Amino acid sequence: MLEEVKHYYGKVLKTSADLQTNACCTGEAMPGHIGKVLGELVPEVVQRYYGCGLVVPAELEGLRVLDLGCGAGRDVYLLSRLVGEQGSVVGVDMTREQLDVAESHVDEHARRFGYQGSNVTFIQGELERLDQLGLEPGSFDLIVSNCVINLCEAKDKVLHDAWQLLKPGGEMYFSDVYADRRVPVSVARHPILYSECLGGALYWNDLIGLSKGAGFADPRLVSDSPISIDNPELAKLVGDIRFFSATYRLFKLDGLEPSCEDYGQAVIYKGSLEGHPASMELDKHHLFETGRVAPVCGNTWRMLHETRFRPHFEFVGDMETHFGIFSGCGTALPFDTGAGAATPSTSCC
Ligand SMILES: C[S@@+](CC[C@H](N)C(=O)[O-])C[C@H]1O[C@@H](n2cnc3c(N)ncnc32)[C@H](O)[C@@H]1O
Repeated sequence: MLEEVKHYYGKVLKTSADLQTNACCTGEAMPGHIGKVLGELVPEVVQRYYGCGLVVPAELEGLRVLDLGCGAGRDVYLLSRLVGEQGSVVGVDMTREQLDVAESHVDEHARRFGYQGSNVTFIQGELERLDQLGLEPGSFDLIVSNCVINLCEAKDKVLHDAWQLLKPGGEMYFSDVYADRRVPVSVARHPILYSECLGGALYWNDLIGLSKGAGFADPRLVSDSPISIDNPELAKLVGDIRFFSATYRLFKLDGLEPSCEDYGQAVIYKGSLEGHPASMELDKHHLFETGRVAPVCGNTWRMLHETRFRPHFEFVGDMETHFGIFSGCGTALPFDTGAGAATPSTSCC
């Protein structure tokens, strides 16, 4: 399907208005300071955005970032601004036409951000060959990706290579489309459903398995929302399958445990992350309010203690004494599929 995808993103789509479903163009909530930076970007890269989530975690200043499947570069430029001139962003995409748009605005964004020179680089290549693009292993603090992994044939290889490219304590923070079941071949091989990010969507539980297989032992769901398919013909083909856009974060921490274990530890958020004075959200089940003692499992403690978040927390305890299973990490089911589920995200196209 690689050639179909290249053709779709290179020749068929010109702006997000050309999409036939809203899977690769969900209208995610936008915090004010990010909306402000988006307003600084060249309109062409914003109009060619085909993402399905917001891949902007906290604490970005100075980071070296890699964007997998960067397209026309909206997230690359957004992050270029947020990491600051001392940080850098590399965007990889296989589609020449997408990169041509991205590359044509490198100097203009550096000028708009007031940088001496650009902190952005683009590389043409397939994510299935991430290990052959000359990127140095262990050199990235953060890997993002927005609505792309579903389009990759070898998702396990992409995750495996991402682990290799991250520094210890780094993280992969990515949005994608997931299904509530494994999609049948009739949907998986349909050219439009595939190109529009539905056909190749992983059953969410398979993402968990693939992530663990790549070394990311404790994947954390950050946010999710149901996707509506407003095209009646495509909706008929899809039938009862439910799709979601979701953002996960995967920390590169050796030795994370397969389950949440209780060592009697706790953390206290200092309120010091820029833009997050009242609370810090690690994932959908962990919101740390400023000044409040929060009991955490060993894995969560390490995600805060052995990463860039460490200066922003006080830490209580160690991992010397085990008290059994930790009960406070939330449910295993990721999406709000029961009564009271969120309404499908509205289309932006
Ligand atoms: C849905 S678009 C998302 C683009 C961008 N992340 C954004 O948010 O606008 C998918 C992008 O992934 C790229 N892509 C898909 N499969 C790829 C692969 N196997 N290797 C590299 N790029 C790929 C396509 O060329 C396209 O630009």
